[in-house]
Amino acid sequence: MSDKLRIGICGLNRGRVHIKNSIAADNIELVAVCDINREKADLRAAEYGVKKVYYDHRELCVDPDIDAVIMATPIDVHAETVIDALDAGKHVMSEVIVATTLEDIGRIRDAIKRSGKTYMMLENYCYIRPLLIIENLVRQGKFGEIYYAESDYLKDFQEYNPNFPNIGGWRQKTYFGRRGHPYITHTLGPLLNIMKERVKTVTCMAAGHSFDMVADNTAGLMLETDGGHLICLRSSFVSPRPDSVTYYSFEGTLGTYQAPQGPADYHKVYIDGVCRRGSWNAPGEWKNVYEFIGDRPKCWDKYWNAADYPATLLDNDTYELYDSGALMMLEHFADALLNGKEAPVSFADAANWTAAGLLSADSVNRGCVPIAVPDFSL
Ligand SMILES: NC(=O)c1ccc[n+]([C@@H]2O[C@H](COP(=O)([O-])OP(=O)(O)OC[C@H]3O[C@@H](n4cnc5c(N)ncnc54)[C@H](O)[C@@H]3O)[C@@H](O)[C@H]2O)c1
Repeated sequence: MSDKLRIGICGLNRGRVHIKNSIAADNIELVAVCDINREKADLRAAEYGVKKVYYDHRELCVDPDIDAVIMATPIDVHAETVIDALDAGKHVMSEVIVATTLEDIGRIRDAIKRSGKTYMMLENYCYIRPLLIIENLVRQGKFGEIYYAESDYLKDFQEYNPNFPNIGGWRQKTYFGRRGHPYITHTLGPLLNIMKERVKTVTCMAAGHSFDMVADNTAGLMLETDGGHLICLRSSFVSPRPDSVTYYSFEGTLGTYQAPQGPADYHKVYIDGVCRRGSWNAPGEWKNVYEFIGDRPKCWDKYWNAADYPATLLDNDTYELYDSGALMMLEHFADALLNGKEAPVSFADAANWTAAGLLSADSVNRGCVPIAVPDFSL
């Protein structure tokens, strides 16, 4: 392999973000783009000066000038497109979630084993700025043992489409066509990525049926990890409020992190011995997460100027935040493939997160019973 990872990008809506970041990345060479919509494929190729264009993912996958494919195809064709790429001898960086059934996750695992190639899931939420700072603090032991974490994915799809929930296409099927929390990896992934644990069991309750769809108005999940810790997640596609899709919290024996829950709120931590402890007549002290930016790894400065993020900054714009680490993610993934390093988000992790979401539907359908999540280790 050369010093740059030669890639093709398939599926050019979400794929557009990856086109821009691949062009900006130091260790990636963007060789080709592909979309079954010929007009879109040609448009994107012209827009970004990409020389090779394909209209069928199978043709992209056999291009000898490509080492890895980014699959940004719709979720319901992930299994088919990812397996074709692996079988053609390409590494795969796939968009979330892994697949829509446990059987398809198993088929992807078989294809990874068969091909000897690497699969990584592009969970961009693992790379958002405040979570990188928290991960840094966690690795230094500042939170002690993390025994609890939570996250919300509360969206109002009604605001995007007047025909909601009949929006058609794969989103209606995969998001609204099942109970539980199918689009789970944005919430669960960053939590487990920091905790370095996997889900052992998932239990789900759901409530409300005000819309003509299988999905409930909201689902609440309790997840037991293999480290004996607890995670709570909530999801909703109909929550009448500004989107809340970057809310996370960790609680450890020495400290707590809580993301903002509204526009005036900020990313805050309490750390024993660093923040003032509360008493009966004086509340304890939260500190802004950005006060802890000082001991960051030097490599962060390449992606965002840390000096621009002082303690006073709220930095709670969900839309700006959610791809704030997307370039870093791509360069990390390329580095892993080029230098034989461990995948930043491995197949076994991605499969565990995805399976927990899929099985949350089984839990709620069977009366909120805990369901064991299978091990998808390679
Ligand atoms: N990580 C994130 O924050 C994030 C955000 C949005 C979407 N996504 C993920 O990205 C993926 C795509 O989402 P989207 O919003 O772009 O969907 P979309 O439906 O808007 O666009 C999908 C594109 O893929 C093309 N396509 C479909 N099947 C194809 C095939 N077999 N080969 C080549 N092209 C094909 C379509 O023509 C379309 O241009 C999904 O997996 C979704 O979960 C992730």
